[in-house]
Amino acid sequence: MEQNSRGIWGSRLGFILAAAGSAIGLGNIWRYPYVTGQNGGAAFVLLYVGCVLLVGLPVLIAELSLGRKTTLNPVGAFKAIVPKSLWPGVGYLGVLTGVGILSFYLVIAGWTLGYLVRTIIPSSESFDQFVANPYEEIGYFLAFLGLTMYVVLGGVEKGIERWSKFLMPALFVLVLLLIGYNFTLEGASKGIEFYLKPDFSKIQGSTVLAALGQAFFSLSLGMGTMITYGSYISKKENIPVSAVAVALSDTTIAFLAGLMIFPALFSVGVEPTSGPALVFNVLPRVFETMPGGTIVGVAFFLLLIIAALTSTVSLLEVPVAFLVDEKKWSRKKAVWVIALMTILAGMPSALSQGTVAWFTNVEFLGQQGFLSIMNRLFSDISLPVGGLFICLFVGWVWGTKNALEEIRIGADEQTIRLMGFWQFLVKYVCPVVIAAVLLNIFGVF
Ligand code: PFF
Repeated sequence: MEQNSRGIWGSRLGFILAAAGSAIGLGNIWRYPYVTGQNGGAAFVLLYVGCVLLVGLPVLIAELSLGRKTTLNPVGAFKAIVPKSLWPGVGYLGVLTGVGILSFYLVIAGWTLGYLVRTIIPSSESFDQFVANPYEEIGYFLAFLGLTMYVVLGGVEKGIERWSKFLMPALFVLVLLLIGYNFTLEGASKGIEFYLKPDFSKIQGSTVLAALGQAFFSLSLGMGTMITYGSYISKKENIPVSAVAVALSDTTIAFLAGLMIFPALFSVGVEPTSGPALVFNVLPRVFETMPGGTIVGVAFFLLLIIAALTSTVSLLEVPVAFLVDEKKWSRKKAVWVIALMTILAGMPSALSQGTVAWFTNVEFLGQQGFLSIMNRLFSDISLPVGGLFICLFVGWVWGTKNALEEIRIGADEQTIRLMGFWQFLVKYVCPVVIAAVLLNIFGVF
């Protein structure tokens, strides 16, 4: 099924699972529960679903159609449509953002490896001691980078697709098993109530904006990941239907992750507002109190590793596809060079959890510590800026009419009829909402 020498997804399900694999990651299982906890629970969940439908899904369709039309990486895609302009700059921003997010995402992904090991071989180190240990931080960071490189070196079909096909369904089954287990815990019903019974008095401006930011990060939007993955789809594919499948599976896994974590949290009496350390600080204690907890813990961290790996793979794939397409590098050379850049960019984050004082205490953009600053800069600023420009580009420069022509290929009549609404969302609703998020980051509201 080769379309050109770049490679193409081997099957329809293969593409959907790979794109869902990119979307489903630490964002769903580590970030979504703590952001939900900080924003009041059930009411936030409803807002989040609203953001996915109104902004996430339209941007996802825009990125996939731009990618399939041009069969190129984010830089090449903009260049192919308007060669002599500043628009390829949006692609360059995406390539840079890929390395930027990967550099700190690998630190947290490394924690999941570390916690898998700690669950098998118990350690007396606390979470704070663990993250301040430079040997463990750097060792696990490099190990996770190695795993990611191994998958990406395999290429699109043999590497990413083959792994996703096997890993994503395994993840889904593991989450369901854990939900079943956690529901039997004493006090679980309090968690279920917090998570499912909305208290609308908890909604504020910042809640809406947190929901939108989470949608962006979780669906892998704004840096051209879905342009790149879209470039490997065949012309037979129904883009809107695939996009719905990806968004639905991502949102389902996040929703299930909440269902898995909140009953457990409430059962050990921990505050839902405890922030980013939540999963790592709390769940091991939950596992300790469970009969057979070691097995449950191993399954849980394995699940986090699986989810994180299919996301780090997509983060690495964006700059690699850029170098392979635009600079005509071999895949191997591109992977190694980007990996070395990621190590350089990632070391300050890895050493920012108490190891090196300056990296730990440095303040910028309202954040303290190098990792938090990188997260703020690349997830909260870079992704929405990229997403805003992608909407403006597809809505007004390439034009939704041209985009629709691409979407029409492989789509049925019924799907096409719904696309009038998509045009409206991409041209007007998405840019306005995303601009509001950015203004909020700069403190306008
Ligand atoms: N969506 C991934 C997650 O939820 O963990 C993170 C991510 C991957 C963000 C790829 C952006 C991206 F381009």
